[in-house]
Amino acid sequence: MISSTSSTPELQALAEAVARRRNFAIISHPDAGKTTLTEKLLLYGGAIQQAGAVKAKGEQRKVTSDWMELEKQRGISITSTVLQFDYAGSTINLLDTPGHQDFSEDTYRTLAAADNAVMLEDAAKGLEPQTRKLFEVCRMRRIPIFTFINKMDRPGREPLELLDEIEQELGLACWPVNWPIGSGDRFRGVIDRRSHDVILFQRAERGRQSEEKLLTVQEARDTGAVEPELLAQALEELELLEGAGADLDLELVHAGELSPVFFGSAMTNFGVRPFLDAFLELAQKPVGRASNAGEIDPIGPGFSGFVFKLQANMDPRHRDRVAFVRVCSGKFEKDMTVQHARTGKAIRLSRPQKLFGQDREVVEDAYPGDVIGLNNPGMFAIGDTLYLGQKVEYEGIPCFSPEIFAWLRNPNPSAFKSFRKGVNELREEGAVQILYDTDESKRDPILAAVGQLQLEVVQYRLEHEYGVQTRLEPLGFAVARWVAGGWPALEQVGRIFNCKTVRDAWNRPVLLFKNSWNLGQLAEEHPQLELSAVAPVV
Ligand code: G4P
Repeated sequence: MISSTSSTPELQALAEAVARRRNFAIISHPDAGKTTLTEKLLLYGGAIQQAGAVKAKGEQRKVTSDWMELEKQRGISITSTVLQFDYAGSTINLLDTPGHQDFSEDTYRTLAAADNAVMLEDAAKGLEPQTRKLFEVCRMRRIPIFTFINKMDRPGREPLELLDEIEQELGLACWPVNWPIGSGDRFRGVIDRRSHDVILFQRAERGRQSEEKLLTVQEARDTGAVEPELLAQALEELELLEGAGADLDLELVHAGELSPVFFGSAMTNFGVRPFLDAFLELAQKPVGRASNAGEIDPIGPGFSGFVFKLQANMDPRHRDRVAFVRVCSGKFEKDMTVQHARTGKAIRLSRPQKLFGQDREVVEDAYPGDVIGLNNPGMFAIGDTLYLGQKVEYEGIPCFSPEIFAWLRNPNPSAFKSFRKGVNELREEGAVQILYDTDESKRDPILAAVGQLQLEVVQYRLEHEYGVQTRLEPLGFAVARWVAGGWPALEQVGRIFNCKTVRDAWNRPVLLFKNSWNLGQLAEEHPQLELSAVAPVV
């Protein structure tokens, strides 16, 4: 690990800033309550005065998120934002990932900048598809996962069954930090597993902090605050968990192998504060990050960070582009001149911004775990490293397996130059992945995306930024795999059926399948062929 041994006052201040920081993203399936939970967390942090101010559906959402005309037309939020707030002496960075319809590679990339993830589940539904996908990305990075089982005020599945599903299907061990007493209409609160306090919840006025009442189990029983049979059942289940033996091992939590689990109801504010308090205690603070120069200690004299997301046209009046940089080490200061690892150029960062929803303010400084927005007149690409002092380059951000494919046609040959320029720039920016037919005569690019919205954004931007109207022709594939060993490995297996071979922008072979059944067939027939759902990092 590269770090400074000298302990100057500056390094001490940096170490304190790092110790204070917690950074996380919420992973969930649409409708599990991510917007609601985000709002409640921000209420506790005092960052907003009333729920509904950050991101609401319908009219309000349009007001708070009007960066792009397309967003307005669709009434959705395309951009992941970063919400920073202070609570109980900690500085919390919530990396907001877009929801379902807006699902795109950005959602995955945001997880590359997160130190922790909160997996939000609907108690009635348990694990859902989007959550599973995002979990896989967290697993790749081995980031700690905290589980919040939401909507306990509504009839849901048995808590033990929900935990069993996580353990069995995700292979993630669970450690409930609190345990629910009743559910649905008879949800009475939770028992804190470590203190054995009963936290009684009283429904709060929508959008306000709930009144939480702490009782001992004895008090809960004696005062009749909780029906005896509900209390008895919760205690029995808790005993069962204790019997299972495992301790809350922080090392396992930080390795992403053990998930602290919380029960609550974001809408009614049940359990949000206990969750936030325990999260701050158990979550991983910004840690060292892998680079070509080994793991970089966040508490070092040299600033470093990497670009995990690019966003164009956040302010249509200025046609600007913003690069989101996750600070990994050192202190970032406004007007700093840093090195751009990929090009070797020095860049003065004169107008760094902090973004809160659509509000921006110029940041004076930032610390590891924070995210800053930099104006980006086309010089940054996803995965780029910025640094000061000794050269480092962070590991790139992988391309994730696309699931939607379409030919991108340019019906107007005179616009070919703009078309090619636009496609290349949007690819470099990471807006979409581009594949090509192996048949050289078919020169049109194939757009490959993880979400339909990505395709629409590309078409929209080609038209409005490059003046090219395009046509999409969907291709009937749903699965893509990169081939380890490249073309030679592929040649060795000979002809392959039920799959189309294409090449990516780096001329590496990619196999497209109609469904996972066809993929399975190939794996069976050619077990020696090593396939990967994630593109090798360039
Ligand atoms: P998302 O961002 O994950 O898509 O979910 P969102 O917060 O928008 O919540 C989806 C729906 O679930 C909303 O209802 C919301 O009020 C509700 N919800 C969230 N948390 C809870 C909870 O703890 N208990 C219950 N009972 N409901 C919850 P909606 O009818 O779609 O919208 P709205 O009219 O309530 O805003």
